[in-house]
Amino acid sequence: MKDTQIKKLIESEKKRQKKVINLIASENVVSKDVLKALGSELTNKYAEGYPGKRYYGGNEVVDELESLAQTRALRLFGLSPDLWHVNVQPLSGSPANLAVYLALVPIGGKIMGMSLDNGGHLTHGHKVSMTGKAWVQVPFGVDPKTEVIDYDSLKQKAVAEKPAIIVAGFTAYPRTVDFKKFREVADACGPDSPVGTGAILMVDMSHFAGLVAGKAYPSPFEYADVVTTTVHKTLRGPRSALIFVRKDKTKLNTKGVPVSFADLIDKAVFPGLQGGPHLNQIAAVAVALKEASTPAFKKYAQQVVKNAKVLADELTKKGWRIVSGGTDSHLVLIDTWMGGKGIGGKEASDRLEKAGIIVNKNTIPGETRTPVDPSGIRVGSAAETTRGKKEKDFRKVAENIDKVLSA
Ligand SMILES: Cc1ncc(COP(=O)(O)O)c(C=O)c1O
Repeated sequence: MKDTQIKKLIESEKKRQKKVINLIASENVVSKDVLKALGSELTNKYAEGYPGKRYYGGNEVVDELESLAQTRALRLFGLSPDLWHVNVQPLSGSPANLAVYLALVPIGGKIMGMSLDNGGHLTHGHKVSMTGKAWVQVPFGVDPKTEVIDYDSLKQKAVAEKPAIIVAGFTAYPRTVDFKKFREVADACGPDSPVGTGAILMVDMSHFAGLVAGKAYPSPFEYADVVTTTVHKTLRGPRSALIFVRKDKTKLNTKGVPVSFADLIDKAVFPGLQGGPHLNQIAAVAVALKEASTPAFKKYAQQVVKNAKVLADELTKKGWRIVSGGTDSHLVLIDTWMGGKGIGGKEASDRLEKAGIIVNKNTIPGETRTPVDPSGIRVGSAAETTRGKKEKDFRKVAENIDKVLSA
């Protein structure tokens, strides 16, 4: 690389990544092939539109590429192309979620999503996000005692509020989600819901998509109408996102004509929110999807969950309060404040970083502090499992976290 300033910064970041224990639950370490695809000549190409329907010339290669990425995405999650459509163009998770709402929820309509301090994401209708400005969030949370989702109160609220869409998914909820129960809740919203036949059920599987691919976490596809996911978390691909949608789902337009969710979502992505797709990114997504379909990836996903469980168990043994008492996924939420240790999330995260352990501060259910200095930290096992760490290594990691925070 001729640009020595940037070369130096890339080298420095590579070194930093190698030096630390990375427990950021939303990060991972991609393969060299993913990096190669990202850095390829595909970045030179403009291709507004979709395969076979572009606004620029010269698309014979990129049409094949985008179609291949779509085929691999459907295949990875065992979906029939007769029943499901996938859009592989969203630039990242937030625009993917925004595209779904833009397509399916009238402006001002209700989005039922998990509140931020209970583990939801900003794009599930939080007021600081565009999703909470253009639409109205109906928040749901966890049971304050068990810190797991209380499906009965979820149903009561949904039936009373009749949201147009219910988002099941999270950014900081460690347990499995019962997608069947979410379906029942969505259906219970009744024929007088704004979309006519109960609420739309959208699952945002950004965090656990890799675990679903590796059969280490329940799949939402049997129950959801729409599934969004980032590609760069447990799925171990480039920064990008996918939107899966059932082909048979339709919505009446203003003239009373049924239009498929798939068409509405494609139009919301382009031209609704984006211009030309990032084809280098789509190539890297396709590479990651193929990698995630291998037996080695299945083993990886199972190991991710085993490692997170060890981390939660060992920290519990050392007297740390783990939100909800444990984990079923790749992430663990540690209550560093209310659990009796009296360390704010910011201080905990800063102290760990000085010791070479990278985590993020995080709100916890029943939060009494602020999002910039909350009551906990979130840790995850995806990146360090990619680097080959097993249970015994995560025991050591727990020991080190305890040592640093107890000093
Ligand atoms: C559940 C969930 N959805 C959406 C997003 C947004 O993804 P991005 O940061 O790629 O916009 C995140 C990111 O953390 C997430 O956790």
